[in-house]
Amino acid sequence: MCGIVGYVGAEDAKEILLRGLEKLEYRGYDSAGLAIANDQGVHVYKEKGRIATLREAVNQTEAGTVGIGHTRWATHGAPSKLNAHPHQTARYTIVHNGVIENYEQVRREYLPDVEMTSDTDTEIIVQLVEKFASDGETTEVAFRHALSLLKGSYATALLDLEDPETIYVGKNKSPLLIGLSDGVNVVASDAMAMLQVTKEFVEIMDEEIVIVTKDNVTIKKMTGDVVTRDSYVAEIDSSDIEKGTYPHYMLKEIDEQPFVIRNIVTKYKDEDDSIKLDDNVRQAVLGADRIYIIAAGTSYHAGLVGKEMIEKIAHIPVETHIASEFLYNMPILSKKPLFIFISQSGETADSRGVLVNVKKLGHQTLTITNVPGSTLSREAQFTLHTHAGPEIAVASTKAYTAQMAVLVILAVDAARASGLEMDFDPLQELGIVANAMEIFTEKKDVLEEIARDYLSVTRNCFFIGRSMDYHVCMEGSLKLKEISYIQAEGFAGGELKHGTIALIEEGTPVIGLATQENVHLNLRGNMKEVVARGAYPCMISMDGFQEEDDKIVIPKVHNYLTPLVSVIPLQLIAYYAALHRGCDVDKPRNLAKSVTVE
Ligand code: F6R
Repeated sequence: MCGIVGYVGAEDAKEILLRGLEKLEYRGYDSAGLAIANDQGVHVYKEKGRIATLREAVNQTEAGTVGIGHTRWATHGAPSKLNAHPHQTARYTIVHNGVIENYEQVRREYLPDVEMTSDTDTEIIVQLVEKFASDGETTEVAFRHALSLLKGSYATALLDLEDPETIYVGKNKSPLLIGLSDGVNVVASDAMAMLQVTKEFVEIMDEEIVIVTKDNVTIKKMTGDVVTRDSYVAEIDSSDIEKGTYPHYMLKEIDEQPFVIRNIVTKYKDEDDSIKLDDNVRQAVLGADRIYIIAAGTSYHAGLVGKEMIEKIAHIPVETHIASEFLYNMPILSKKPLFIFISQSGETADSRGVLVNVKKLGHQTLTITNVPGSTLSREAQFTLHTHAGPEIAVASTKAYTAQMAVLVILAVDAARASGLEMDFDPLQELGIVANAMEIFTEKKDVLEEIARDYLSVTRNCFFIGRSMDYHVCMEGSLKLKEISYIQAEGFAGGELKHGTIALIEEGTPVIGLATQENVHLNLRGNMKEVVARGAYPCMISMDGFQEEDDKIVIPKVHNYLTPLVSVIPLQLIAYYAALHRGCDVDKPRNLAKSVTVE
């Protein structure tokens, strides 16, 4: 969701900014723009649509060694060239991520006579800076003054026509990093955008501003006090974010799952092959009388599986909640809760809102994320890293299986530490899972055929399962709808007949998942109910429970771990369905990878 880049150095900034914006495309956007500063002024280019369109619009002869760029995912004002960033006044040019909640109020109070040129909340920031600077404040003071009036989230970068060698940066709640190099400094919402320039980054905290020139980076609090902070080296390699020979990131990331699971096993294994986990995390889990898992979308679905794992293995009660619901409708909490935030990006605003609230209440917090330096990771007391490598496709795949792998390790660790008898070695069983996942790399043609047969022309599709399979069905249906735009629902097998079965008609595709020992026969009964009403059934079962007409049989894995394997055929079916329907698999419409607004 929205992305910012900035460059101040010795080379022409245009190509670096355009490449940076391309690296941020995965986050989701609907328009893009950039501003290049040189002796002749600040030149703005912006376009609705893809970076490729912006690239064509940029005047390649207009060179400048300082610039800022932006991808916009519309919140205030439609996606259009007018509303695309940068926004400008006579002297200043700005790009902004986030949402200014009080922009109407600020506009009425401070800018009543200023005619706005866009429908965005962003424009008030640049107008405020212009106003305060024309009242006699320096740019830095005017910038801090403007930011101090805002409520909401922002990561923002500002250029001053009268000082074109400097980028002024401000941050609150939205992600932002400064990249450091020799005679070059850069700004990025995500390190991936600027790995082309440097791997050395410094984090910016909320309510800080940064003054960036080619030789200096000065971080200040809103009071003007200077802050010193060490830089860190980003652990990702630019090759991690390339597609290689794959046609889509999503397919690459689906295929990476066996490797990711093996990597997690390595990272969480001690020299004596036991689980390696920070003792503070262990104590936080053991000390909790109830765990609250908070997440959104696919991560929420991993949390549903996590609840089952932790309750069954570690005997600790767990509730899994949708972050955006929990935020404004908090249930009565137990006396000693532990909050676990699951988030691929570590930036999801809904989850962060809950984190901020429960921290105020003094509760223990743990984030499970793929991005250790992310906001949720920094702000929670503890972090467990999912080690899945950058996930670029908007539809989450490897992050989901990685989250469940870490959850099962956490559950077994707690069970062992509390002295529960266990005949389940998660590290060994995850190795079996990785091998089972691998067989789907060889079975892609079968899944492509299923997608063609069942989903080429349909307008809807149902996924039914029971117990853990039900949660995987919710994930399978989310994958299908988000990338193929087929209306899909994941249902508990026994629940369909309580209303939704009315939607089944001749030829309606119903994908059934039957991997759970105690309920696979019940699910087959539910499948018969829909077939009797005309459904077109596609049965996915597990070795040991299969029947003759099953379309896919997944290899046998431990009952707790079936979701990690059964989801893979569903991911691939969704992928091929989207492909056959001509959809943009990696960048589905209306979606953003990192959802940094509520
Ligand atoms: C779906 C998907 C989303 C995310 C959700 C939460 O494929 O990716 O549903 O799971 O937006 O994002 P994170 O995990 O980054 O908090």
